[in-house]
Amino acid sequence: MYKLLINSKKELGHINPEIQGHFSEHLGRCIYEGIFVGENSDIPNTNGMRNDVVNALKAMKLPVLRWPGGCFADEYHWKDGIGPKETRKKMINTNWGGVVEDNSFGTHEFMELCKQIGCKTYINGNVGSGTVREMSEWVEYMTFDGVSPMADLRKENGSEASFTVDYFGIGNETWGCGGFMVPEYYANQYRQYQAFVKNYNSDKKIKRIAVGPSDKDYEWTETLLNQCFKGQGSINNNHGFMDGLSLHYYTVPHDWAKKGSATVFTDKEWYLTLSKTLLMDEMITKHSAIMDRYDPEGNIGLMVDEWGTWYDVEEGTNPGFLYQQNTIRDALVAGINLNIFNKHCKRVKMANIAQLVNVLQAVILTEGDIMIKTPTYHVFKMYSCHQDGTLLESSIDTDTIGLEEEYMVPNLTESVSKSKDGKINITLTNLSCTDSYEVESNLLEDTVKSVRASIVGGDMSDHNTFEKPEVVREEEFTDFTVNGNKILIKMPKSSVVHLEVEI
Ligand code: AHR
Repeated sequence: MYKLLINSKKELGHINPEIQGHFSEHLGRCIYEGIFVGENSDIPNTNGMRNDVVNALKAMKLPVLRWPGGCFADEYHWKDGIGPKETRKKMINTNWGGVVEDNSFGTHEFMELCKQIGCKTYINGNVGSGTVREMSEWVEYMTFDGVSPMADLRKENGSEASFTVDYFGIGNETWGCGGFMVPEYYANQYRQYQAFVKNYNSDKKIKRIAVGPSDKDYEWTETLLNQCFKGQGSINNNHGFMDGLSLHYYTVPHDWAKKGSATVFTDKEWYLTLSKTLLMDEMITKHSAIMDRYDPEGNIGLMVDEWGTWYDVEEGTNPGFLYQQNTIRDALVAGINLNIFNKHCKRVKMANIAQLVNVLQAVILTEGDIMIKTPTYHVFKMYSCHQDGTLLESSIDTDTIGLEEEYMVPNLTESVSKSKDGKINITLTNLSCTDSYEVESNLLEDTVKSVRASIVGGDMSDHNTFEKPEVVREEEFTDFTVNGNKILIKMPKSSVVHLEVEI
């Protein structure tokens, strides 16, 4: 029996809904086919956006969407994606399959998509191959309400009212595809570019995000903060020059040359993958420790704006399109990471899983007019109960399990929050692919009035296909008993469970 202690009197921080954010790049079939099919498509759509996909994303409560990349962002020139579609420039998507990008999905279409979903906007600007002027004009185009060349152009293109840009990223992976810069050089670039991301609306300030580290590159974090956190000319008194610093970390089971299959894997690869995903906790802890030295008040968010599993592509698909299936293993990866982000909610203000549809650890896969929800989708929907909640103090006893010493993992992870209406939401993951466990949740002085629970679980490689779309789904869970302030739960193997508790 494993004990989960929950202290509802000890509130540890606000869980920003954006912790459950997503990322959509011009990559493979993410934007085109997956989301945007155009007004003339036979696939039911509203202003070109697939109705089935938008409805599923609304139901999942998608809080924020990052666009247009990724590596694509640093070769994207936004003016190519505005105005009449027939005259938009075509370009080569050099990063992703060398395919033709016809720019039919641009700024207006992205804003329309976010409006339909009801989510916040996170635009990623081009530092790698763009200019300060180009970035500055994009911000003016999107957000300025008065009379100016860019605001007038936006109006000519059909949008009288300005758009809301909630977050703006100054480049992407500038240590890699975004320009192969050294941190000192990028820090200077960042200082310059961010100065021209103007806030035209004092009540809708844009949060500026600097390119942060990859994985365990602590030196990058140290240099960026040292050069850019505070300084003369800062337009944002206590935040210095930035509101957020990104972190990218992908869960790759083996190595980049041969990552491993998404659906065919052994028990050993199950634990290998989960042990690698758990490194997220260590990385956040160590990058946060650096951030704490510069910013003890926690004004800058650590934005984990790319994360998730990265496997070999599905057989017969374009290697540049990064199309992969999604199993119960991915459900566990999602549940474990979302628990980690909750636990770090004081520093982690946003996270964006890669990527929304048809790419990497997607929540949705499409084929023609058919759409399926992946196990990851069901976990995100389940965890939406934590959005805007308050993290509560909680801890669980665990055992270490696995098949090889270096790939050992705790058998259980958890996080607990209190929602605005006073309900306690517990999310638990069972990392064993063979064993179930009994967990006794103890709510200390609170008496449990009622519990509603659901589960996403199955055999480790279970997944949904276009032929069998409902193999994995969120189901009602009843394998628990309540006694006073305790709930005794039987956690099945390889599962993610949510309990909504009324006290
Ligand atoms: O998500 C796929 C790619 O991974 C992104 O374009 C890039 O930022 C990262 O390397």
